[in-house]
Amino acid sequence: MFTQKFLVALLLAASLVSASVLRFGLDKRIKKRAPGDVITKCTVNNTVALTFDDGPYIWLNEIVDTLNAANAKGTFFFNGDNFGCIYDEAMTARVKYAYDHGHQMASHTWRHLHLNSLNEHQLHVEMWAVEEAIYRITGVYVAFTRPPFGEYNALVQQVAAARGQTLANWDFDSRDAAGASMAQTLGAYTSLIGSRPPTILTLNH
Ligand SMILES: *[C@@H]1O[C@H](CO)[C@@H](O)[C@H](O)[C@H]1NC(C)=O
Repeated sequence: MFTQKFLVALLLAASLVSASVLRFGLDKRIKKRAPGDVITKCTVNNTVALTFDDGPYIWLNEIVDTLNAANAKGTFFFNGDNFGCIYDEAMTARVKYAYDHGHQMASHTWRHLHLNSLNEHQLHVEMWAVEEAIYRITGVYVAFTRPPFGEYNALVQQVAAARGQTLANWDFDSRDAAGASMAQTLGAYTSLIGSRPPTILTLNH
């Protein structure tokens, strides 16, 4: 009887020790902070992602209405302070409008800076400020960040991972921000669709 109890206690102690060794090992691995993933493509065939950068701005509600009329949803990578400030009453209302109509909220960082030139602290601030704004306005935390200009380095990936953000770029640029006319953009979309790629991840503004 005594021996059995002793054996059970010994086994219990041994398992606690091994559990704490495991936890310690895990902690050490977490501290290494593997770089965050970078998405450039849709993962499900026959899907198209319509993503919009640099808002919120004055056309946001019209884009939302247009998408909804086509039974589509967009992903909006919002800045905090770019064309407009996300905390201006009218901009806040537009963000809420997009969220309330079922569109995806995402971050494009606060000021649209070149992230590769920032240190770790500055990166956290650029990312945190817009994550916080979207949370205050909609009640959701974003899961995706699009780095301005699509630029990132190992530190950007590390900070994104620490913040629980997956970086998301694109595989088709509508070139609207590069000065393409409406006709040119439409032409680019038409020929892209004509080539029938299995997936498309678009960049629009
Ligand atoms: C997706 O489409 C590509 C190209 O047509 C094909 O090679 C791939 O097997 C497809 N994947 C799935 C999961 O159907």
